[in-house]
This record gives sequence, structure tokens and C-alpha cells, in this order.
Amino acid sequence: MPDRRRVALVTGGAKRVGRAIVERLGAMGFAVAFTYLTSDRDAEALRSQLAERGIDTLPIKADLAEPENAVEQIDKAFGSWSSDLDVLVNNASLWLPGRLAETTPDILRKAYAVHVESPLLLCKTFANRLRRDGGGHVVNMVDLLAERPWPQYLAYCASKAALANLTLGLSRELAPQVTVNGIAPGVVQWPEDFPADEREKYLKRVPLQREGTPADVANLVEFLVGKGSYITGQIIRLDGGRSVT
Ligand SMILES: NC(=O)c1ccc[n+]([C@@H]2O[C@H](COP(=O)([O-])OP(=O)(O)OC[C@H]3O[C@@H](n4cnc5c(N)ncnc54)[C@H](OP(=O)(O)O)[C@@H]3O)[C@@H](O)[C@H]2O)c1
Repeated sequence: MPDRRRVALVTGGAKRVGRAIVERLGAMGFAVAFTYLTSDRDAEALRSQLAERGIDTLPIKADLAEPENAVEQIDKAFGSWSSDLDVLVNNASLWLPGRLAETTPDILRKAYAVHVESPLLLCKTFANRLRRDGGGHVVNMVDLLAERPWPQYLAYCASKAALANLTLGLSRELAPQVTVNGIAPGVVQWPEDFPADEREKYLKRVPLQREGTPADVANLVEFLVGKGSYITGQIIRLDGGRSVT
């Protein structure tokens, strides 16, 4: 473990699952930079709540649908705050509905920009800092739907499948200094507008008979960046058993 403060960067960290990851890394002793796009108030609330607990955070506003600009902006803001990076969590996501008829090249490009191009550019930009002490970790938030696509979310599912494959490639590229893994959740926090009857239908096929929670994700991130540091190149399902039914 490095003899200095440990630093993490989480994309889309102002609320929901990303927030739980930021809070957990903070509780583990990391200083945490996190990005957000529209959730200015949540970002400020999180920064001040964690500051009260003595946890240093750096909120960075950046639009990952424009990956080159966004990553340049993140690099600049982050670089004036820390020269080290131990953990990168690519969590930001665009939950984009669209069947074949509605899926335009623009929608597809946007999904790939957020789910594939941004994680790739962030890994590229931060690779040397992650390698520096020989113990960096990248965690990519994939989705169970990457292997079991829903046709009503074509671009979302295809781009998450690309992220899963990118995770495997990067795990080879960044070894032996850096581990790269993916987490593929089933439902861990419902989209706000998800219909009640659809929720019930989904839960009937989950052997553990409940949806997961953001804390379940944070538990796995904690493991992957800590005691699980011999694990790399894995996409770990976190789905209450949904994938075996
Ligand atoms: N929730 C689940 O049950 C579930 C299931 C499977 C997989 N996952 C994966 O787990 C991760 C977290 O899930 P979640 O439900 O918490 O995600 P989410 O709420 O859909 O999205 C997380 C954050 O991504 C940010 N974001 C969206 N578009 C962006 C853009 N163009 N540039 C920068 N940031 C952007 C948003 O930031 P702002 O709010 O600041 O705009 C949002 O708060 C995601 O990668 C998701 O795909 C979640």
C-alpha cells in the first residue's frame, strides 16, 4: 500500500449507485474525485456531507457524451488536486430506451461515447498514474443486460457489451500493475419511472427474491480494490441469481 493518501476517481458519482461508491471509498480512507453532469445540487451536498466527516472530495462537472473534451477537463481539474490515482470507477451511464425503429446512429454514438469511449480515454489518460505504485484498480460498471440484451434498450445493451469486452482487453494491457474488472448488476436501484408491474415480473425471476442495493455494489467495489486484488479481467455478476433463471 502506498505511503501517502489514497485517491479515487468515480464518474457519475453525485447520486444513486455512484454516490454509494463515493461514500464507501471515502469511508475506506480514499480522497475521492467524482464527476457529475446535471446533478449540481447533489454533488455539492455530497461534497459538504463528506467534508463534515473529514473526507476530501473533488466534484468535477463534465459531459462524457463529449469524451475528448470531458476527459481533458477531468484531467485538468484532477491534476491540480492530486498527482496520484489508485482507483478509477467508470460508473456514469445513459439509460437510453430505444428499439430498432427508434435507434439512430446518434443515439448509438452517444451510448458508446459514455459507456465505451470515456472509460477508454480515462484509462489512457490515467494509466501511468494508476501504474505508479504498482497497485491501481479500475472497476467498470457493466450490466447483466450486456449478455442478456433487452431489445427495447438496444444501444444501451450493445454499448455495455462493448464495455465488458474493453474491460477484458484492458485487464491484459494494464497488468501487472493494475487490475481491471467489471461489475454486471441486475437491478440494484430501479430507474425512477420503472412501472410497478414490471418490477414485480422481474423479481419473480430473481432467486434471492429482492432487488440489489447500491450498498451491494459498494461492497463489491470495496472488495475489488482491497482484498480482491488478485482478481483481474473478470465481469462479476451481481444479480441475486437472476442470470441462472
Ligand atoms: N441501477 C441499476 O439497477 C443498474 C443495473 C445494472 C447496471 N447498472 C449500472 O451501474 C451504474 C450505476 O447505475 P445508476 O442506476 O446509479 O446509473 P444512472 O443513475 O443511470 O447514471 C449515473 C450517472 O451518470 C451520469 N451521466 C449520465 N449521462 C452523462 C453524461 N453525458 N456525462 C456525464 N455523466 C453522465 C448522471 O450524472 P448527473 O446526474 O450528474 O447528470 C447520472 O447520475 C451504471 O453504469 C449503470 O449502467 C445499474
